[in-house]
Amino acid sequence: MSVLSDYERETDPLSDQSRALPLGAYSDSDVFDLEMERVFRRDWIGVCGADELPDSGDYRALSVAGEPVVVIRGDDGVLRCFSNVCRHRGTVLYGVGYGNASSVQCPYHAWSYDSVGRLTGIPHAGSAVIDKASHGLVAIRLETWKDIVFINFDADAEALAPRLAGLDRYVDPFQYDRFECAPPTKEKSWNANWKLILENGMDWYHLFQSHPQSLDPIAPTRNAFNIEGSPDWTVTASRQTHATPKRGDDPPSLGDFERAHYLVFSIPPNIVFFANADGWAWLAVLPQSADRTILCEGGRFSRHQDGPAAAEMKNNDLIVEEDRVLCERIQGGMSARVGSGGQLVELDRPIKDFHHYLGWRLFDHERAEAWRTSVDPEPRSTAVGK
Ligand code: FES
Ligand SMILES: [Fe+2]
Repeated sequence: MSVLSDYERETDPLSDQSRALPLGAYSDSDVFDLEMERVFRRDWIGVCGADELPDSGDYRALSVAGEPVVVIRGDDGVLRCFSNVCRHRGTVLYGVGYGNASSVQCPYHAWSYDSVGRLTGIPHAGSAVIDKASHGLVAIRLETWKDIVFINFDADAEALAPRLAGLDRYVDPFQYDRFECAPPTKEKSWNANWKLILENGMDWYHLFQSHPQSLDPIAPTRNAFNIEGSPDWTVTASRQTHATPKRGDDPPSLGDFERAHYLVFSIPPNIVFFANADGWAWLAVLPQSADRTILCEGGRFSRHQDGPAAAEMKNNDLIVEEDRVLCERIQGGMSARVGSGGQLVELDRPIKDFHHYLGWRLFDHERAEAWRTSVDPEPRSTAVGK
């Protein structure tokens, strides 16, 4: 059996055995190419924070599924996404990373474009009559959701906002607008498949074993539980060992549940975010090859130093490094031909939702049904820990 047919079977909700994906799905280059074509070129991909680009001309240039793009705030204050490729003969225009420019001039023959994508200058054109209006930068769809900028190459794709509407009831009580934006993203490159990193981000199961000194003491595996999910998004949580204290500047919407819990959300294919009463952080994975992925992070955080979020922030570098070492080690197992992925446990449920998402997008499987448990603020026994 080929990797692809195993992958197809394990992502089909109708033949669901709640097993892990075949290992080759994380290392096979044909699988990777199919994922780029059917997932990253057709669905909404999170690329940066809107609050990271506050001023006219602020931009973030990057590559998504091999496609150079730039997200830029125009001089009219509107965020847009363009193909980052010159309309003359295709040179990449904005250098990769963050910057600010009210216009950009191509380094090859100096065609220039303004911050809303219009072609404004064509030197030495001679007798050629070039219609500037039809030679502007090519627009790519963009939607912003709770500060995260998503782009989509597919002009026919369904809008993103209706798909994420069910998340509002979990996210809105925190009112993250009251916090300051984190410094601009520092990209990291990990030698691991993009799915491994996304799955690791939504995985409560590994904390007790892999983060025993850094994250598990704050939001433990033994207190983790599933809340709600579907192929569109998932919500899980752990009851923190110390609730975020009540504070004078708390918004009325911030209740005992929000103060007591650390929540993890996933929005496939490439976003997970982490939330508690003192802030939220998002992680975007940008696949480069079957075994290399770029990670970007952003978020908004309280300045209070007395809550669990401050404790986690202190440990953040350690947690991220523990995850990098772990993900790169898991990648080492993905080329194994002996053996296969095994049975998943209850806390792996969001990972199974992600697999159903992949089956839906890659293989046109029927969409798996949404599920929801009663939100239980008390710790309960899980299949792991004590
Ligand atoms: S390729 Fe950009 S001006 Fe020629
Ligand atoms: Fe981790």
